[in-house]
Amino acid sequence: MSEVAIRALAPTDLDAYRLLRLRGLAEHPEAFTSSVGDEAATPADALARRLAPDAARPHDVVLGAFDGGTLVGICGIDVDMREKVRHKGRVFGMYVPAECAGKGIGGALIDRAVGHAHAAGLAQLTLTVTADNAPARRVYERTGFAVCGREPQAIRVGGRGHDKLFMVLFLPAARAPRG
Ligand SMILES: CC(C)(COP(=O)(O)OP(=O)(O)OC[C@H]1O[C@@H](n2cnc3c(N)ncnc32)[C@H](O)[C@@H]1OP(=O)(O)O)[C@@H](O)C(=O)NCCC(=O)NCCS
Repeated sequence: MSEVAIRALAPTDLDAYRLLRLRGLAEHPEAFTSSVGDEAATPADALARRLAPDAARPHDVVLGAFDGGTLVGICGIDVDMREKVRHKGRVFGMYVPAECAGKGIGGALIDRAVGHAHAAGLAQLTLTVTADNAPARRVYERTGFAVCGREPQAIRVGGRGHDKLFMVLFLPAARAPRG
């Protein structure tokens, strides 16, 4: 990978984020649980909130990979804040457009997401991946995620069912501050 910078997206990145996300959902409907229709129905301010830093949710982030000024990859983490499940983050919305794929951008995004989750004190990351999505599975397994379950016919796209794999990565305990 060359010259790609990764940073947390901010509300000012909303238009680029929305465009790239819609493209991913349109070009790879079998890879995502959300559809283009779901996304189009999501109000812009809900998406902008996703990109806004929130001191009460330091683990939540949408990372963007930039080649110059162009957004060429996205990957998010969010946490269900209910007491019994707030130790784990969910990885969502990983996408690198085809013309940029195969250069390590997806790997760099998930590595950064893992670092962010660890720094934020999360104990584990989970995600789902469509069972026959070999490139995505490769990226996650390379980073240390392991398959921990399979849901048959988890999504339907154009009337055809696709299984989803559940994957998990356990993070080392964050070191307690000295003193
Ligand atoms: C999955 C995705 C994010 C990967 O991004 P990327 O920038 O190409 O990722 P990387 O370049 O870091 O790595 C891609 C890996 O997939 C491998 N790969 C590509 N095609 C493959 C195939 N058909 N079978 C197995 N592995 C494959 C590459 O060899 C590479 O692994 P390696 O470097 O160990 O050889 C990107 O392809 C994408 O957005 N796909 C469509 C949407 C999607 O599937 N999102 C994930 C939802 S869970």
